[in-house]
Amino acid sequence: MKIAIVYASVHHNNTEKLVKEAGKMVTMDLFSIQEARKADLSGYDMVGIASGIYFGKLHKSLLDYLEEKPSLPKKAFGIVTCGDGSDKHKKSVWELLEGFGFEAVGVYVCKGFDTYGPFKWIGGINKKHPNQKDIEACATFVKKLI
Ligand SMILES: Cc1cc2nc3c(=O)[nH]c(=O)nc-3n(C[C@H](O)[C@H](O)[C@H](O)COP(=O)(O)O)c2cc1C
Repeated sequence: MKIAIVYASVHHNNTEKLVKEAGKMVTMDLFSIQEARKADLSGYDMVGIASGIYFGKLHKSLLDYLEEKPSLPKKAFGIVTCGDGSDKHKKSVWELLEGFGFEAVGVYVCKGFDTYGPFKWIGGINKKHPNQKDIEACATFVKKLI
């Protein structure tokens, strides 16, 4: 099964680190949005949409990309890093994927280093995330989808 990941990672590259490191444990091809726009991903069996959470949503650049209705496989999953580490993002990202017409098959959520707003005054939160455990759990999540 061929897996493509399209990611946006702008705050601290948390999501990029997560998918790149997990990508050493499970075969998947990674594309930034700029790369995805130039590539043909229609031949993949499944696409992972990966991003930090910004004001409760995926990054705008990723939402804009999906709005463009790129040619992507029907099956999709989410991979998100966030400040609060909350499972509530599973439901919202799942619904978002379905709203874009995908067949959602799963969402992986973990904490990411966050220095937004007041957190910067205390040096940020989740300084060590995503950590090795998060990366391994992400790789296991993708392996189970395969
Ligand atoms: C402008 C901004 C808004 C954010 N909003 C949220 C939020 O609503 N919920 C949350 O849990 N984390 C929030 N975060 C924290 C990020 O989701 C977290 O740091 C994430 O790991 C960033 O991923 P990235 O480094 O791959 O971009 C926000 C961060 C920024 C900079």
